[in-house]
Amino acid sequence: VINDLKGLAGGHLHIAVATTGAYIAPYLLAAFARLHPQLKVSMDVTNREALLHQLADNEVDLAIMGRPPEELALDATAFLDNPLVVIAPPGHPLAGCSRIPLQDLAEYPFIIREAGSGTRSAAERFFSKAGVSLQTSMEMSSHEAIKHAVRAGMGLGIASLHTIREELTAGHLVILAVQGLPIQRHWYLVHRQGKRLSAAAQAFRDFLLQQEVARLLP
Ligand code: PGA
Repeated sequence: VINDLKGLAGGHLHIAVATTGAYIAPYLLAAFARLHPQLKVSMDVTNREALLHQLADNEVDLAIMGRPPEELALDATAFLDNPLVVIAPPGHPLAGCSRIPLQDLAEYPFIIREAGSGTRSAAERFFSKAGVSLQTSMEMSSHEAIKHAVRAGMGLGIASLHTIREELTAGHLVILAVQGLPIQRHWYLVHRQGKRLSAAAQAFRDFLLQQEVARLLP
């Protein structure tokens, strides 16, 4: 019993994360797994829309994603900031400029994520509210591919700050200093309302909610 409580021995943590969550969740899992070395972990990575379907069909215990729609019977708790920024290659005409008016972004092509991506819908909501219509004729269903396409000079991109650390450090990408940005989002822990979580999922959720999660990230 003691072993069970302490180590969740024989336990299996099954979580699902939105695509860009793959850049943060491993660090959270690593910290949790250090406390529970016997634990088995499965992490499924998929976009927001697919995740919402999985939650609705009760296929997943616990998910990490952007804020889910209110009308679904989900329990969602914010646990970490998720700022969205505009990324450019270092040679871009706007790179290094300060206080860029939001409207100026309309002059440049953007590479956006597929329909169903939470990053995309948050960006669409933000820009339409601001009355700015972006040139978005390029679409890619992989965030990694978008980073490379931006680096290659195909256009600007919108990225969660947590997903571009290496490229910023290496100088392959820069963040444009646009007025009114970043778009302020949060990561949420989500499960079906009334769902009885597995012991491992419950312990992982408690673990995240009882600390400053940003400190677990590199
Ligand atoms: P996504 O993730 O853009 O990969 O769908 C973010 C979210 O769930 O909001």
